[in-house]
Amino acid sequence: MNEIERRRTFAIISHPDAGKTTLTEKLLLFGGQIQVAGAVKNNKIKKTATSDWMEIEKQRGISVTTSVMEFDYKDYKVNILDTPGHQDFAEDTFRTLTAVDSAIIVVDSAKGVEAQTRKLMTVCRMRKTPVIIFINKMDREGKDPFDLLDELEQELQIKVRPLSWPINQGQRFKGVYNIYEQRLDLFTPDKQKVTEKVEVDIHSDALEAHVGQADADKLRTDLELVDGVYPEFDVQTYLEAEVAPVFFGSALNNFGVKELLDCFVQIAPSPRPTLAEERTVRPEEPKFSGFIFKITANIDPNHRSCIAFCKVCSGKFVRNAPYLHVRQNKTLRFSSPTQFMAQKKSTIDEAWPGDIVGLPDNGIFKIGDTLTEGEMIHFRGLPSFSPEMFKYIENADPMKTKQLNKGIEQLMDEGVAQLFVNQFNGRKIIGTVGQLQFEVIQYRLENEYNAKCRWEPVSLYKACWIESDDEAQLEAFKKRKYQFMAKDREGRDVFLADSNYVLQMAQNDFEHIKFHFTSEF
Ligand code: G4P
Repeated sequence: MNEIERRRTFAIISHPDAGKTTLTEKLLLFGGQIQVAGAVKNNKIKKTATSDWMEIEKQRGISVTTSVMEFDYKDYKVNILDTPGHQDFAEDTFRTLTAVDSAIIVVDSAKGVEAQTRKLMTVCRMRKTPVIIFINKMDREGKDPFDLLDELEQELQIKVRPLSWPINQGQRFKGVYNIYEQRLDLFTPDKQKVTEKVEVDIHSDALEAHVGQADADKLRTDLELVDGVYPEFDVQTYLEAEVAPVFFGSALNNFGVKELLDCFVQIAPSPRPTLAEERTVRPEEPKFSGFIFKITANIDPNHRSCIAFCKVCSGKFVRNAPYLHVRQNKTLRFSSPTQFMAQKKSTIDEAWPGDIVGLPDNGIFKIGDTLTEGEMIHFRGLPSFSPEMFKYIENADPMKTKQLNKGIEQLMDEGVAQLFVNQFNGRKIIGTVGQLQFEVIQYRLENEYNAKCRWEPVSLYKACWIESDDEAQLEAFKKRKYQFMAKDREGRDVFLADSNYVLQMAQNDFEHIKFHFTSEF
């Protein structure tokens, strides 16, 4: 119980450039995992041209070691799950969110809520993942804090409760009042790390002495307003994902980060029960169970070695113990499971709920696979979302058909993109979130599978998973739209709508059919 309760497994998510990498790095500094700033640079790819292969390679290489960052802090064991910086790999991030117990969302104080933040929050809402929001870059001019809070509530559809409050911003930024600990944290620009902490009663004259008359008055008024508008913070509402506590700070200046971390370890949930198709699995159950939420690419093409990342859901994972691979109904033993530190990985003997174990994978795992001590249960994965871009994938080297098919299969198992097979002409369609994924697939097919592919355009708007109680209407629909019907990899029926107009017409004409943009409903 002690091991379970002290674990905090979470992800930091944000729109690119809000400061996720910077914040991660500062957290690792506190955890003693790295000694110097600048050691985590996993997101450089987003700043380079899309077809810079060396960068993609580097990103893949680095992402293995930084996939999970573990450290001890106070009495807690903190596991940060890394998510890719590039938007085109958003699916990866969605899946990582299936393995966390909570999340920290970083928001740029000048830009507010951005597209990617909104999308990631949708996933958190679906799974009722508790979130803490960190408003970053207070050392720059940004939006008014009250406006930001309104924006967060509206755009992210969650109630917020500030636990710290900024005193000015930009050049005039003086620090924050830590509402959670009722303390003034003063900001000294350029003095990385050192922040002056002052215990002041905000109603006493001491406040003026620290921040001056005008700012002291403003702070008091602001805090009164905060207390008036936002109900007192109740940890339970945070744990139930109804309220998101908000902190203000500057990751680059390491300001407000320790406060965030201190509050986070105290209030964030320890490993939560996991839903399986058959039942809910509680972390304190004695028998081991876990699921695969991520598979990394082959790092070295000459030596096919993927790593499957398994989140431990219950019991204790032990090296060399026999575990059941439920989908394949096969017993496996893992002689060299790994754990990850900021820059190295090492073999482990045991792991507890909340931990992530790296398992060597030579093609046996698929995203969502369950491992147990014998029980036939299936953990629920994250549904697939309708891709944004679609292309036909064609064989460009007829001598290598087998290699191509195998490559496509394995890349889809890894969750690189989604595959649909058109039922009318049998052609394969790959769906992605962004252009970069197509380039990665083509590159990897060539380098790892020795196969060549060619992309051909197909004009599609959305993939819709269809469902109906009205069998006759469903059949009639499939008949009418036979050219646009496809199967996903699980054999489910998918309607490929070529425009929004066509989709709306279909929805009007076939009232008893439900059109879903995610594969789970
Ligand atoms: P990301 O992972 O969310 O994409 O963001 P990242 O941490 O890489 O930060 C994006 C940019 O914002 C970086 O600048 C970083 O230095 C800057 N930044 C992060 N936190 C703060 C902050 O609190 N205040 C200010 N003023 N800037 C901040 P860059 O120039 O794009 O990259 P770099 O060359 O400095 O690494």
